[in-house]
This record gives sequence, structure tokens and C-alpha cells, in this order.
Amino acid sequence: MLTRSVSQETVLAHFTARAPTYDASSHWCTDVALLDQIWECCGAGPESLVLDVAVGTGLVAGRFFGRVGRLVGLDLTPAMSRPGRRKVDAMVSGQAEGLPFRDDLFDVVVERQGIQFMDAARSVKEMVRVAKPGGRVCLVQLCAYGYFDRDDYFEILRLRNPARRNFFLREDLQNLLKDAGCGTVTSLDFVSVEDVDRWSDNGAIGDGPREEIRAVYRRADPRFLKLHGVELHDGRFVDHMLFCILVGVK
Ligand SMILES: C[S@@+](CC[C@H](N)C(=O)[O-])C[C@H]1O[C@@H](n2cnc3c(N)ncnc32)[C@H](O)[C@@H]1O
Repeated sequence: MLTRSVSQETVLAHFTARAPTYDASSHWCTDVALLDQIWECCGAGPESLVLDVAVGTGLVAGRFFGRVGRLVGLDLTPAMSRPGRRKVDAMVSGQAEGLPFRDDLFDVVVERQGIQFMDAARSVKEMVRVAKPGGRVCLVQLCAYGYFDRDDYFEILRLRNPARRNFFLREDLQNLLKDAGCGTVTSLDFVSVEDVDRWSDNGAIGDGPREEIRAVYRRADPRFLKLHGVELHDGRFVDHMLFCILVGVK
């Protein structure tokens, strides 16, 4: 896992600025195919008690709402979770590093694109702690394909989101779940095709970092370009971004 130091104030400020346009800020955000994969992997049903950690505006929660017994969302940033309230049965304001729930409570705990802003080891331990024995903990993260793209990609992601603290390989996520006490861990890959200019126009960064992102793509290692299937259409880069869906059973 690559990691850097970022304050929680930076995270809050970033997502407060981004909240109004968050849902439109990437193709993957609202991609029904990805949301359906997450639903399938979690194995939730009409009786399940589900927790969505870093629920944000409720895009993942919206896929679960009304299909499970009870759905709880938790997030740090009020501007993000305010619109998410309509997509959960209960919304809690708090930090994933110290979940305000008792041990062994939830059938399913899910997070998408949250632990890159957190103390990942502490947060995943908390997610596993509040899951029932036999319950599932699902992590959904944008990952590097391998060691050849990891450093350039972390740079791109840091430029796009200065609040990013961590960056993962698939095996980092596996280890986080195993170290937190999950017995079996399975993984599934999902590739999202993103127009980089649309993706970098997230409402929280200016033209300078967006131009720097294009520059990293221009000078990237040929192995990076190959792994990401990078294409240039009318002067715009298109990237095939890898999402890993990891499911641990407690
Ligand atoms: C990229 S958004 C993901 C939102 C949602 N899970 C989704 O997939 O659309 C990241 C979310 O993580 C939240 N977050 C960041 N650090 C957090 C922490 N330590 N505890 C709880 N939530 C946190 C942010 O407020 C933000 O809403």
C-alpha cells in the first residue's frame, strides 16, 4: 500500500467543495453495472442489516435501500451525507476509524472509495469488528494493475484529489481484510472506461492540476499506457480504470 500524510480537515474541505457535483464527477460513480456487482458480491437479502461506511451521497446505498431489512449509512462530511439521507434508513455522522456500533452487529458492511482517505488498517478492523460472525465485509477500491503503473497512477490520483492518503494493489486489500480477522477473502475485478478530462473536472481542483494530470499521461511509462489501455480521442485521454471488489467473510 502506498501512503502519505493528509489531515482530516483536508478531507472535509475537499468533499464539502465537491458534494454538489459529486454524482456526476466520474462515470463509475453511477455505473449501474458496478453497483449491481457490488450488490451481488455482498449477498444481502430482505432480512439483512447493512452498514455503508463512507456512504457519501448514497450511490451504493441507493442500490440496497428497500431491498434489505435495515440500511445504515456513516460518513464524515455532512455536505456529502445530507443528500444521502434519502437513501438509507438511518444516517450517522462519524469516523470510520471508530465506528459507533457494538461488535458483531451487521450482516453486511460495505464501503466504496472510502478507505483511501482513512487510516485504512484501523477502519477495516472496525468494519470487521461490527460485522456478525459469518457476515461479509466488502471493499470496493480503484486499484493499480501492478507495480508498473502504481507510482504514476498514485501521482495522477493525488493531483485529482489532494485528500487522497492511500493507494492499493488488489493484494493490499486482501491483506487488510485478513489482518482484520476475515477467514476467506474473494476478489472480483471491474474495469471502468473514463474520459480523463471529465473525471478530473470534479469541482474541487483547478485548471493547473488538471493540466498536470494530462502531462503525467503524456509522459507515462509505455507499460502504464498498455496496462490502462490508454487511448487518445480528439485530444482527450481515455483510461480503463481497475476497480477491485474484495469480499471478506468474518
Ligand atoms: C469518494 S467518496 C465515496 C462515496 C460513496 N461511497 C460512493 O461510492 O459514491 C468518499 C467519502 O468518504 C468519506 N470519508 C472520508 N474519510 C472518512 C472517514 N475517516 N470516516 C468516514 N467517512 C470518511 C468522505 O466524506 C466521502 O463522502
